[in-house]
Amino acid sequence: MPDMNIASHCTRLQCQAGRAEKIALRWVDADFQPTDYTFADLERESNRCANAFAGLGFGKGTRFFIYLPAQPEVYFAFLGILKLQAIAGMLFSNFGKQAVQDRLADAGAQVLITKQGLLRRIRDILPELPVLQTILVTDLEEDEDQRIRSYPKLLAGQSTAFTVEPTAPETPSVLHYTSGSTGKPKGVLHIHGGLPHQQMTVREILQLAEDDIYWCTADHGWVTGTTYGITAPWSLGHTMVHFGGNFNTENWFRLLQEQRITVWYTAPTALRMLMREEDKIKGQFDLSALKRMYSVGEPLNPEIIQWVRRTLDKDIYDTWFQTETGGHMIVNRPGMPVRPGSMGKPVRGTAAAVAVDGVIAEQPETVGALWLRKGWDSMFVEYLNMPDAYRSKFHGDWYDTGDLAKIDSDGYFWFIGRNDDVINPSGHLVGPFEVESALLEMPEIVDVAVIGAPDPLLYEKIVAYITLKEGAVWDRKLELRCRIHITNRISPIAVPGEYIVRDRLPKNRSGKIMRRVLKAEYLGQDVGDISTLED
Ligand code: PRX
Repeated sequence: MPDMNIASHCTRLQCQAGRAEKIALRWVDADFQPTDYTFADLERESNRCANAFAGLGFGKGTRFFIYLPAQPEVYFAFLGILKLQAIAGMLFSNFGKQAVQDRLADAGAQVLITKQGLLRRIRDILPELPVLQTILVTDLEEDEDQRIRSYPKLLAGQSTAFTVEPTAPETPSVLHYTSGSTGKPKGVLHIHGGLPHQQMTVREILQLAEDDIYWCTADHGWVTGTTYGITAPWSLGHTMVHFGGNFNTENWFRLLQEQRITVWYTAPTALRMLMREEDKIKGQFDLSALKRMYSVGEPLNPEIIQWVRRTLDKDIYDTWFQTETGGHMIVNRPGMPVRPGSMGKPVRGTAAAVAVDGVIAEQPETVGALWLRKGWDSMFVEYLNMPDAYRSKFHGDWYDTGDLAKIDSDGYFWFIGRNDDVINPSGHLVGPFEVESALLEMPEIVDVAVIGAPDPLLYEKIVAYITLKEGAVWDRKLELRCRIHITNRISPIAVPGEYIVRDRLPKNRSGKIMRRVLKAEYLGQDVGDISTLED
């Protein structure tokens, strides 16, 4: 059986292909100190992790979660987990305790890898997670007890040799959670067999060359951070930079300059933030090594493309995909004329279409649901514990992305918006239900509806319509308490940018709040026939 193990492709196979001494990871810490790890180092470090995990009795199918900011341990542990054929669940380190609890509980997590600062944040949910047997803490010197263990101590003395069992393509690999309109986030499960599609897109879209120095700014908590920040580039032997410092204009441009990054993959909100601080960068940094840039997660507005050309003298290419697709689906790339504002055309082997009322539209410029023909190999295989939700995404041979788009007469795809209530602040999907649930926990708030609205910086902001308990007053203090509460429970990304207080909220006959009515009202659009909007 051909070995489809993603981690073997990222490590052992690279060593066998003559890249053992090539730099795989250049880790640059917050003080800009670089540490290099070769592909041989990746192989040894991930083997140590795999041995340590196996020694604790974990193996095929064990559900691990990584809850850490960017640091080298993340990549080694991730690859070690995949070598065991266990599942690597990925958490954004800004998640609050409810967000972490929901995901660990839903997935039946058995192992969590974290650090002391984050463990403190989630201490009081630990009794609620009986299945979570082991917590490995990267900065703990001695075991606290049987459950909370020192990760460095566990790794010390582990063998750097590990034999990966031949891995079938359908073996589960990476688990990310994604938000929907209703209910809690859904676990999107991927498989080792998704790698060829991801590799094809690195070759054809990112077009990385052997000597490129590539930087993907996405956090490993999101799909871009794992597919294009770990698995696909390493599995083809490319050198990646990862940065442990904060996002700000000087830091990022210093990194680009000092590390002589050649290909940079980032997101529109970050670029808009950099645009606002153009004075700090114009002519101050040497970006001569940088060949081109890519963007993902939100629409790349033409203003950004023009700004990148004018100020940085580079080309930037928009790419579209989703947690569920596991890799690029609709893209721009060098060699294809870019129509600013369009997300481009489907990648090789992918068929995409627009459908209206369940029927594929033949007429160009028709706005409809964006569908993809199923069967690409990086496609997710299930929403964990939600077979009905998974099934409902498919119509015959087609997968409904939940986005609205149109196709022009030359086959370029144009993003219109979401076809559901999911909100996209700065490229990170947020489900309104999660924010509503957190706000309802505030004693002053009796009713709430959350919608997304256009925002010049974030692409979308979260707007919360609230009804207050009698006698309660909306003021800065209460707003601050809401902010703290949502940050602690979900994440800073989920904090509303605007609150609107109402005596009552529009509901249908079954008592369901009609978010779409509020959204139309907010945007000054015709509310239409509300009886047909929601059941
Ligand atoms: O609505 C689309 C938007 O982000 C959604 C997918 O989000 P997620 O699963 O979190 O993955 C984000 C990173 C791949 C899509 O359904 N989206 C993603 N890329 C673009 C985009 N919207 C417009 N243009 C894009 N390039």
